[in-house]
Amino acid sequence: MQPMITSKLPRVGTTIFTRMSALAAEHGALNLSQGFPDFDAPEALREAMARHVMAGHNQYAPMQGLAALREQIALQVLRCRGVSCDPDTEITVVPGATEGIFCAVMACVAPGDEVIVLDPCYDSYQPCVELAGGRAIHVPLRQPDFALDRERLEAALGARSRLLILNSPHNPSGSTLSREDMLYLEALVQRHGLLVVSDEVYEHLVFDGRAHHSALQFPALRERSFALFSFGKTFSVTGWKTGYCIAPAALTAELRKVHQFVSFVAVTPVQLALADFMREQPDYPATLAAFYQRKRDLFCDALHASRFSFTPSAGTYFQLLDYSRISEEDDAGLGERWTRERGIAAIPVSVFYEQPPPQRLLRFCFAKNDAVLEAAAEILCRI
Ligand SMILES: Cc1ncc(COP(=O)(O)O)c(C=O)c1O
Repeated sequence: MQPMITSKLPRVGTTIFTRMSALAAEHGALNLSQGFPDFDAPEALREAMARHVMAGHNQYAPMQGLAALREQIALQVLRCRGVSCDPDTEITVVPGATEGIFCAVMACVAPGDEVIVLDPCYDSYQPCVELAGGRAIHVPLRQPDFALDRERLEAALGARSRLLILNSPHNPSGSTLSREDMLYLEALVQRHGLLVVSDEVYEHLVFDGRAHHSALQFPALRERSFALFSFGKTFSVTGWKTGYCIAPAALTAELRKVHQFVSFVAVTPVQLALADFMREQPDYPATLAAFYQRKRDLFCDALHASRFSFTPSAGTYFQLLDYSRISEEDDAGLGERWTRERGIAAIPVSVFYEQPPPQRLLRFCFAKNDAVLEAAAEILCRI
């Protein structure tokens, strides 16, 4: 008899990010699809990693992460957000924010629970909720500015609502939650007894003088949130897949119960290298906003001569472009066609939705060398 398997995620295939990057490679297209830098991480960080590997630091780290790194994280959070957290009971180092999100959802969602996700959203949220036996309730962000739609959010809440997943700065739109939004959310989660997963992997990438408002800075959110961060985004080492979760002790204890049986630990020499680098260059994250804003401006300025319409991104390293004046084709088909025919790859925004609204948007990653951004803009201006 053939062994049978019934898919727990029947609607999930290979992610769009993998597919578009593969298609870009196949056709030699400029790849502005997947969210990763095409330039290298700081040299001191890479050197530290090599040093620790060669020094023989290659065995398991403690399950919750190396103390030296958790201490540096606590210092950075205090410096950047004015919030203190206990490295022993509130900070867990995880192999990527994606794993942390999975563990947080698994730790707190039970069969039948409802989880509010705000569309468009990062593609891991829904599968995590489904694997936990929960039901994702998709609430679209407001058009065209991708702000919170308070009315729709409140209409989606009910007796089974358990968890709200937030993401600011927001992938794919680049929108950010304002201080007023955070105050509103504080009241909302208290009123409805909700837990929160706050995905803040782009925390340092906010532009035009904006501030990032972390769930950690708002007491009623702080006491019920799993806040997730990614070293991959902050230090341009997405391939190192290392991040951390900050949550109150009781929530952290539950997260760690899951984490220890999903991956158990994050990679040891990576953690040592990050701890060294953070100790030696504590101000590095503060340089990121200006660095990426300049790249955003370079890309956007060059696109003023194009037929795309857009609002410069407020955060993240993504820029949405509206192609309504160019084509009526759906975004998925167009994204693939332009990769093959025009030599430029982007991500169709419809893939971030349960039910995509009628819009014509592609997401471009501007974490790329200036020459690549200039070449991409040149192609886009010819379309
Ligand atoms: C919104 C969002 N959350 C989480 C992640 C994943 O971060 P990591 O690579 O640390 O797992 C990404 C990566 O693209 C992201 O865009």
